[in-house]
Amino acid sequence: MSLDLASIRAQFPILAETVHGKRLAYLDNAATTQKPLAVLDRIDRYYRHENANVHRAVHLLAERATKAYEGARDRIASFVGADREEIVFTRGTTEAINLVARSYLQPMLQPGDEVLLTGMEHHSNIVPWQLAGAKTVAAPVRDDGSLDLDAWRAMLNPRTRLVAVVQVSNALGTVNPVAEMIEIAHAAGVPVLVDGAQSLAHLKLDLHALDVDFFTTSAHKAFGPTGFGMLYAKREHLEAMPPWHGGGDMIETVAFEGSTWNEIPYKFEAGTPDMAGAIGFAAALDWIDGVGLDTLIAHEVDLTAYATEQLAGLPGIRVIGTAPGKVGVFSMVMDGAHPHDLGTLLSESGVAVRTGHHCTMPLWQRFGVPATARASLAVYNGHDDIDQLVSGLKTAQRLLG
Ligand code: ALA
Repeated sequence: MSLDLASIRAQFPILAETVHGKRLAYLDNAATTQKPLAVLDRIDRYYRHENANVHRAVHLLAERATKAYEGARDRIASFVGADREEIVFTRGTTEAINLVARSYLQPMLQPGDEVLLTGMEHHSNIVPWQLAGAKTVAAPVRDDGSLDLDAWRAMLNPRTRLVAVVQVSNALGTVNPVAEMIEIAHAAGVPVLVDGAQSLAHLKLDLHALDVDFFTTSAHKAFGPTGFGMLYAKREHLEAMPPWHGGGDMIETVAFEGSTWNEIPYKFEAGTPDMAGAIGFAAALDWIDGVGLDTLIAHEVDLTAYATEQLAGLPGIRVIGTAPGKVGVFSMVMDGAHPHDLGTLLSESGVAVRTGHHCTMPLWQRFGVPATARASLAVYNGHDDIDQLVSGLKTAQRLLG
C-alpha cells in the first residue's frame, strides 16, 4: 500500500508551523520525531480522565491508571516481540544502557575486561561502560560508513565481557548486521546489547527471534513522548541482576535489617513511574501499526533514494555515510563552511537539521571532520522537504562561498 502523505501530515499539527516566514521542512528526526494527534490526544485523555498513581491504591482512578500503564507494557512487548516481564521502563535508551552497565556488567568486571563496540557508537553506548570500569574497544568503520565485520570479529577475545552495538547509526544511517553479530558473539560465549534508539520507526523487530540479550530504545524517536524508553533483557539476565535504584515499588519487603526485591520488571522501576510516558509510547506504536510498518518503510526507502540522488548532484556537498541499506540520515559537510553556519542558513530557509558532533565524537575523528549538518527523515517527509533542503543548501553555498 502506498502512503497518503497529506493525510499523514494532517495528523502532525506542528508541521503547519512556519519558521522565518517559510514552510517548515522538519529534517531533524534522528534527534526527535514530531508527535501525531493520536499520541497528543491519548496523553491528554490520560491526564483528564485516568491520572492517579499506579500499583498503590484501589480507588477507581488508580485502577484505570494501572490498567492503562500495564496495558502499555503489553503493547510495547508485543510490538518488539518480547514478554511483558522482560520490558523495564526507563527514561530512554541512555538510562537503559546505564542500567545494564551498573547492574549487569559492573558486578562481574575484572581489571582489563572489555566491552567490544563499533566506531560509530553514540556517547551513550560508550561512556556508561567506561563509568562502570570496563575497557572500551571499538571495531573500525569503513569509508562508506559500514562496519568492518571481519575486523570486529577478530577483536572478540577472552577478555570481551559484552558486545554493544548500535542497530541504526544516528550519525550515518548505517544499519548494522546485528543478527549475524549476535550469532558470532554467542558462539564465542559473549552476550550482546543492541542500542535500538533509532530502530523502532525504521525497522521491523522481533527480539526473541533475534536472540539478543539486551535491547534499548526511546519513545521519542518513534513519535512517542520524550523522557521515556525501555530496556528489554532476557528473563534470566533480569532475574540475576541486582536492582540499581532503590525506593518505592521495587521492593517486596523493607525492614531496617534489610530489604527484599519485587519481581521483574518492577525490581528495576523505583519510584512513581512516568505513566503518561508509557501510555503515550503505546499510542505511538498503535499509530505506527495504523500506518503499517511496511508502508512506512517503503516510503522511507523511496525518500532515502531520492535524497541520495539529489544530494549527490550538488557540487561542494559531501555526505558521510553511504553504506548499502542505510536509512534516511544524511550527515553533510560543505566546502568552506562550518556546519553551524550551514544549519543557521538552512533554518532561515525553513529547514530544520541538526548540527554538531551528534554525540559520536570518535566517529568524526575517524572521518577527520569536527562536525556535520545532519538531515534525517521520518514518515511525514516528502520530496518537497528534500527539494527545500537542496534549495537551502544552494542558497547557503551562495552566501558562504
Ligand atoms: N541522539 C540524538 C541525535 O542523534 C539526540 O540527535
